[in-house]
Amino acid sequence: MKPTTTPPKTYRVKSFGCQMNVYDGERMAEMLDAQGIAPAAEGEDADLVVLNTCHIREKAAEKIYSDIGRLTKGKTQTKPPMIAVAGCVAQAEGEEIMKRSPAVSMVVGPQAYHRLPEMLDRAVQGERATDTDMPAIAKFAALPERRRIGPTAFLTVQEGCDKFCTYCVVPYTRGAEISRPYSDLVTEARKLVEAGAKEITLLGQNVSAWSGENGRGHAVGLAGLIRDIAAIDGLARIRYTTSHPADMDDDLIAAHGDTPKLMPFLHLPVQAGSDRVLKAMNRSHSVESYLKLLDRFRAARPDLALSGDFIVGFPGETDAEFEETLQLVGEVAYAQAFSFKYSPRPGTPAATMDGQVAKEVMDERLQRLQAALNRDQLAFNQNTVGRTCEVLVERKGKLPGQWLGKTPWLQSAWFEGDVQIGDLVQVELVEAGPNSLAGMLRETVAA
Ligand code: 5AD
Ligand code: SF4
Repeated sequence: MKPTTTPPKTYRVKSFGCQMNVYDGERMAEMLDAQGIAPAAEGEDADLVVLNTCHIREKAAEKIYSDIGRLTKGKTQTKPPMIAVAGCVAQAEGEEIMKRSPAVSMVVGPQAYHRLPEMLDRAVQGERATDTDMPAIAKFAALPERRRIGPTAFLTVQEGCDKFCTYCVVPYTRGAEISRPYSDLVTEARKLVEAGAKEITLLGQNVSAWSGENGRGHAVGLAGLIRDIAAIDGLARIRYTTSHPADMDDDLIAAHGDTPKLMPFLHLPVQAGSDRVLKAMNRSHSVESYLKLLDRFRAARPDLALSGDFIVGFPGETDAEFEETLQLVGEVAYAQAFSFKYSPRPGTPAATMDGQVAKEVMDERLQRLQAALNRDQLAFNQNTVGRTCEVLVERKGKLPGQWLGKTPWLQSAWFEGDVQIGDLVQVELVEAGPNSLAGMLRETVAA
């Protein structure tokens, strides 16, 4: 046992990876605030550092060890802090981290972080603690109330995944699919709006699988939840992510046509453009069923912007099969997308499959895919030039008087004018780049 340390007065939470990790990071910060610990000021040492890790691809664990090394050797801050490792690497490699890094006081998995305060008390007594239990959704009930201030907020509605795509570690690190109860979600959404949120993004590893029972005892799916959250006064925009093609029901498609607050944007990962590869990935959709589904969404909301995820170099992927991915990209014309080289994850079926693809082949495929996706993204942005649309002001730009906001299609737009963070303003898009647009402020709309 290590000697007693003084309780930390300041903290910093560093989140890696997906938006759900960002949400978890915010909730851990709120919990530490409630313990009377303050966020460390920019550039200042923190007494406690929480590394909120991601395990989805490549060397994430190695990165954590180098981060820990930098913290303890005084490279990141002058005085070594107390360290907690949270997130999916913590879940997957808890004991290993404790063995390898004596500087780590706490290891806490994504379903157990509500126990951080009591672990912290023990850490102050010199006791190291690991908690990687997965007690369904107990954590949400144990967290303090939301106190967000930003105009955009995340709200986790669903966690875990039962799909078991053969490359993916999520079903093992985040556990089985669970939906948070309807009434908790509507209450949390109201709190977020009262605290200043204008846009809420509903989060889940497989968000479209959310199901619940509304206040009148009726079974509802994600579309029902979206419509009820849309009824909250003061909330202007709703988004959701990430969806699986297998769980998109008619009602959700209809909601894109009948719920104006639901933004015209859909992130629907396809992963690959070859039916054989999709089968080996255990994706449960084909290229054709995916395209048909997109057609139905586009029929409900013709200006829908599409986004996707892709993996190149899945074990056994041939050159011809990769070409099919490029062909699919050409057909869909995504507004934006994420693409990755396949990364074997320990414990997943694909990690031991025959035909692991050489790194150079993956590099070349990724380059070609990203060139195609970037081309489409620029074309999408260029197509919106000349339109005047609503922009939610998110932050100040680099130049004086400049602001950055998001269009309904999740594009970043820069413009100048007399506005405030959280305003909804009309902006004419005048010039498109690959990653953002320049705009001109037209008139301010009351939020
Ligand atoms: N290798 C590469 N990319 C992966 N993803 C998930 N697991 C892996 C892996 N082992 C990608 C998928 C998923 C996104 C969140 O990360 O495209 O949709
Ligand atoms: Fe992973 Fe597939 Fe579940 Fe997405 S749907 S989290 S890729 S297993």
